[in-house]
Amino acid sequence: MGLRFRSAEVEDAEWMTEAVNNPEVAKYLITVYPCTEHEVKEYMKKRLKEEKHKWIIAEKDGEPAGSVTVSPGEGRTRHTAWLGIYVRKKCWRQGIGTALMKEAVRVAKEFGIRRFMLGTFEGNERAIGLYKKFGFKTETTSKGLVYLDGGWKDSYVMGLDLAPCEPRITKTALPQRTKGSILTKQLQSENLTVRQLMDKDLDEVNRLQNCPESTKSTTKIPPITKEATKKWYEELSGRGGSFCCGCFENQKLLGYTQFSGGRLPFANVWVEEILIDMKAKPTATTDSLIASLIGFFERYGYHRIFGEIPETSQVIVRSLEKHGFKKTGAFKGYYFIDDHYVDALTYAYT
Ligand SMILES: CC(C)(COP(=O)(O)OP(=O)(O)OC[C@H]1O[C@@H](n2cnc3c(N)ncnc32)[C@H](O)[C@@H]1OP(=O)(O)O)[C@@H](O)C(=O)NCCC(=O)NCCS
Repeated sequence: MGLRFRSAEVEDAEWMTEAVNNPEVAKYLITVYPCTEHEVKEYMKKRLKEEKHKWIIAEKDGEPAGSVTVSPGEGRTRHTAWLGIYVRKKCWRQGIGTALMKEAVRVAKEFGIRRFMLGTFEGNERAIGLYKKFGFKTETTSKGLVYLDGGWKDSYVMGLDLAPCEPRITKTALPQRTKGSILTKQLQSENLTVRQLMDKDLDEVNRLQNCPESTKSTTKIPPITKEATKKWYEELSGRGGSFCCGCFENQKLLGYTQFSGGRLPFANVWVEEILIDMKAKPTATTDSLIASLIGFFERYGYHRIFGEIPETSQVIVRSLEKHGFKKTGAFKGYYFIDDHYVDALTYAYT
């Protein structure tokens, strides 16, 4: 078989549109079909601009046969990368998926990636068989994440070690938990307001994004410039279905949650970032933000809430569990915090 690899180009949008609209390919991707060539093109233009993102095409006898992406994480997760793969239906079972996986692993190693991650759905035996062949193991099972073939199906996140993640945080080094009754009393005595972030809050957001201790629950590493905060806020506002709620005491921002509301087949709330001022009232702030997130979820009838948080962010972990979130697994060594690799605990709320 004459197989060669090359980088993706915007011109690939044509065959890709045909490939990702094939029902048997489409149903296991996170893109929702039918999608137009224009949509595919716009998406490609955006991704191809990203410096670290690598998009590889496999050509069989001169014709495009499949695609794999390697998307490295940022900041505290920059030692990780996420993989996405598909092969044109007419080219299945000819070893192209295997060849693309080998190439992706080679590229990820070249980038210095230590942990390779991917997500897949219940029932996708072809892909799961392929991933297992490369040594990927399931780290998280998110129950009912996607609506497929007339029912809610589970999603799995699988991980592969490409290099050791050492040193790991030890259990005894994790911050100690506070008793629940104390938390409740503290919350009742606070006078906090939760509302959508607004343009006038950007200086406060930037102050918070520059607190080294507070950013440890996120991928962000200070210093964060005012321009970067503004860009983050504008991108958030420009994406349909994305929200950011802040918790305030008077005009002072004590923390925020960034989240998005997905559409079918992913009609869930996705927690993207929780950043809390650890020097002010962290417990009461987190409780207020989580309660307001659940309020949003209930008001609009979403199916589940999903999120992940470093195991070291015990104030947030504690609040999630207190509000009824259930642990679904852990991405191993996903964050690098204070010179240690730390698991990301994954949670779901129903
Ligand atoms: C998953 C996919 C990429 C596999 O591509 P492919 O080119 O057919 O894969 P290969 O021919 O290299 O086969 C690789 C391995 O997949 C597994 N596999 C393939 N078909 C399978 C099937 N019907 N049942 C179980 N395992 C299967 C086997 O482990 C196989 O290895 P083997 O041939 O040594 O037994 C392709 O089927 C696809 O694009 N599916 C739709 C999109 C998708 O699901 N993407 C992944 C989203 S998470």
